[in-house]
Amino acid sequence: MTRRAQVVAVGTALPERRLTNADLEKMVDTNDEWIVSRTGIRERRVVEPGTPLSALAAPAAEECLRKAGVSAADIDGIICATITGDHVMPATANLVQDRIGATKAWAYDIANACNGFVAALATASAFVSSGGADRILVIGGDVMSSVVDYTDRNTCILFGDGAGAVLVEAGEGDNGIRGFKLGSDGSFGKLLSIPCSGSAMRPSDEAVAAGAHFLKQEGREVFQHAVRRMSQVATQLLEKLNLKADAIDLLVPHQANRRIIEPTARRLGLPMDKVVINIANVANTTGGTIPLALASAEADGRLTTGTRVMLVAFGGGFAWGACYLTWGRG
Ligand code: UT7
Repeated sequence: MTRRAQVVAVGTALPERRLTNADLEKMVDTNDEWIVSRTGIRERRVVEPGTPLSALAAPAAEECLRKAGVSAADIDGIICATITGDHVMPATANLVQDRIGATKAWAYDIANACNGFVAALATASAFVSSGGADRILVIGGDVMSSVVDYTDRNTCILFGDGAGAVLVEAGEGDNGIRGFKLGSDGSFGKLLSIPCSGSAMRPSDEAVAAGAHFLKQEGREVFQHAVRRMSQVATQLLEKLNLKADAIDLLVPHQANRRIIEPTARRLGLPMDKVVINIANVANTTGGTIPLALASAEADGRLTTGTRVMLVAFGGGFAWGACYLTWGRG
């Protein structure tokens, strides 16, 4: 029997508060028609200012464990993919470990921006398939409202807050993770960055006054790379696994822009009914997009045990990745 890393359940947490396009019209020079036609986004959820990521990550983890029928005490490890953790130190995964009572679990964060969830899943998969762990919680989430400049119409319309978690568990059936393909190109780092967020720039009064602690993006350039890389990495993974696009029941892409997702699906030759798009109501939650999209596909009946799923993401770094898996236990 082959030991596999199976993805057996997903849980999510979203803030209550909705920030609609109409709300943004009152804050910056924008309008609902522009935002919907250029991005597909209608509203995003945002936390009350000061609410940390762990306040979403812990309930998402708990919902995931409840659905999986697994106790927190039986988890071996927790990986949280985020760029807006509660702090640089301690890691948000450590705080979740304490909050949910995962007493025997190690815990750490992974910072890989919009590709963070795929990167964290790759790490968990390597642990579980090699016998290094039996159960790992992989959390992806961000409180993007803590780094978004709500006076910058180029970026403030795009992002929301939210978190999701999946349980990666050792199993010996047919389902499970079949492969990954990851990539990066650091030469484009400046096109999507938070300049004052680490040792390169200290949080001086000047830096904050200049807004260097906010996310900056060269949207048009990032857009072009995203379309190319997302379809390319998914195609490369199919080739590596010796599969054709008809082996994909469900494409679950990072949700940055509907106009990135549609050409990605087209280039893969997938009809849109095989593609999960939930960007209209939750926008781009960075580390949270893929688990939130998995949960929405499960809720509408498209993700069940045995569904063959391609996850694909692209974002800051640049960093990108794809994962092919068959959902559930068994
Ligand atoms: O998740 C991480 C990866 N991130 C992404 O993948 C995001 C990639 N980029 C994008 O999704 C798109 O580039 C945006 C949604 C950010 C922008 O869409 P676009 O079609 O690339 O628009 P643009 O930047 O070329 O701007 C077109 C026009 C500009 O006006 P001019 O120069 O043509 O007069 C902008 O100033 O639209 C203007 N504009 C807006 N107008 C109304 C930019 N933002 C807004 C706005 N409302 N919010």
